[in-house]
Amino acid sequence: EKGTYPHFMLKEIDEQPFVMRRIIQEYQDDQDNIKLDEDVRQAVADCDRIYIIAAGTSYHAGLIGKEFLEKIAQVPTEVHIASEFSYNMPLLSEKPLFVFISQSGETADLRSVLVEVNKLGHKALTITNVQGSTLSRESHYTLLLHAGPEIAVASTKAYTAQMAVLAILAVDTAQAKGLTLDFDPMKELGIVANAIEALCDQNEKLEQVAKDYLSTTRNCFFIGRGLDYHVGLEGALKLKEISYIQAEGFAGGELKHGTIALIEEGTPVIALATQEHVNSSIRSNVSEVVTRGANACIISLEGLEREGDEIILPSVHTLLAPLVSVVPMQLISYYAALHRDCDVDKPRNLAKSVTVE
Ligand code: F6R
Repeated sequence: EKGTYPHFMLKEIDEQPFVMRRIIQEYQDDQDNIKLDEDVRQAVADCDRIYIIAAGTSYHAGLIGKEFLEKIAQVPTEVHIASEFSYNMPLLSEKPLFVFISQSGETADLRSVLVEVNKLGHKALTITNVQGSTLSRESHYTLLLHAGPEIAVASTKAYTAQMAVLAILAVDTAQAKGLTLDFDPMKELGIVANAIEALCDQNEKLEQVAKDYLSTTRNCFFIGRGLDYHVGLEGALKLKEISYIQAEGFAGGELKHGTIALIEEGTPVIALATQEHVNSSIRSNVSEVVTRGANACIISLEGLEREGDEIILPSVHTLLAPLVSVVPMQLISYYAALHRDCDVDKPRNLAKSVTVE
């Protein structure tokens, strides 16, 4: 039930800190070690490459998951859009492990890949919010998101939960391989939970951003580099699906190769700057678009800010920044849709669970 919330989407955005804390509990044993099914651990240890298969928001979580699996656990990982995979099946490695990421566990595009994978005799792990869902039943292993029911069509808490579970899987794999890590994942996820909470308490500021930048615009661009680029893709999807504003996420360095031609006087550009190693370069991209008339809003991480009027996110581990930086984008999209009189929880032409191919 919505309780005192006007929409499920806002309720579900607000639930994200609790979801983070629940995931920490569910994936931790009494000795504070990661608790994971031994079979899952073994399946990851035995594979030489992970193939992530997903759609929509879950695909965006997969892009971040790839970074975790490669940077933390050193497992080569590819991410594929489920509906494309059947026609564009890449040359598979010798010992592939398929990871299906799906909030509902029912997405038909993923299921048809899973059927194929099962025929080929490869192992499949499903990361889902729904125990007993089709994908979970038909794959060898399941990891649950523990996000609680997600009712709003636009996915929010399932996305942050997917990234959290992928981070835990990556850390567990790294530990199983004997790699040294310079952070305690559960402690860092606890810091993420607190950071999201702090942001949800400041939603008036984000409502103002939605009013200032998005109340009448036809389009909006999200720019970032590395992890920030992937989060920008998710920010753009959130905005288009519930506010119907044409929104696109671009890699900062790609702007000059074409898309900068789209910038006009007043075009809103939301720039993400949470990654220290690309902070200067993304800021040059912001200057490039501002020079051409863009109305830029910068979302940065504490310590990386350069201007007074940026939205500054509480400091978190750099790899986990996407779990926090997506929250202002969810809230900005929510308020943009609200101010444009859109049906926030049930956007036109969309269904919560896509069971057709
Ligand atoms: C976006 C959204 C969709 C889903 C996609 C996959 O907010 O909800 O893009 O993410 O349809 O759904 P699942 O994760 O259930 O496989």
